[in-house]
Amino acid sequence: MTEPDRQQREASARVFFALWPDTAVRDALYRHGQALHRALGGKLTRIDSVHLTLLFLGDVAQSRLAALHRIGEAVRFAPFSMQIDTAECWRHNDIAWVGPRRMPPELPQLVGQLEVAASEAGFAFDRRPYAAHVTLVRKAKCRRLDLAPIDVQWPVSEFVLVRSRLQPEGSRYEVIGRWENAGKTEV
Ligand code: 2AM
Repeated sequence: MTEPDRQQREASARVFFALWPDTAVRDALYRHGQALHRALGGKLTRIDSVHLTLLFLGDVAQSRLAALHRIGEAVRFAPFSMQIDTAECWRHNDIAWVGPRRMPPELPQLVGQLEVAASEAGFAFDRRPYAAHVTLVRKAKCRRLDLAPIDVQWPVSEFVLVRSRLQPEGSRYEVIGRWENAGKTEV
């Protein structure tokens, strides 16, 4: 990598807004990930990386991170609960995931607030319809699943801003902002 390339990479950050599970929900989802992994092969998501993306922004200039923090602070939402009750495998990208069969209405409302605020602040992002999913296995050999049913209640009272760093062994995530329904908490 040339010096200008290195400076360019250091000056930007790959970021996304997400829901980060507490340890009980994380452990429950991860156990399903292990079962999916046993059934489908591929690469199991690290236990400390289990999350649900709300809005993926990709590479943004580090100087723009403050604007994303302002967006996080401005979002208002009431706590809600999400039922994770389906496990599926996408053949187009070999991802096995779990998620809500029906999104609680608060979830698209939260995503919508983030999209509007990010758009108004000049951020570019993928405008495909939102598909709520927790990726548990990558490079899965998708086929018909015969697994134990999944039913995990995920209480949601905060969301986070995450920085993704590409490492040789895969992406590593760092929470760089965290907001409760009533405002910001320190990380
Ligand atoms: P994935 O698990 O389906 O790949 C960090 O990469 C997070 O952002 C992951 O949850 C990932 O979803 C999501 N993500 C990556 N690229 C994305 C894109 N172009 N659009 C939407 N989400 C994306």
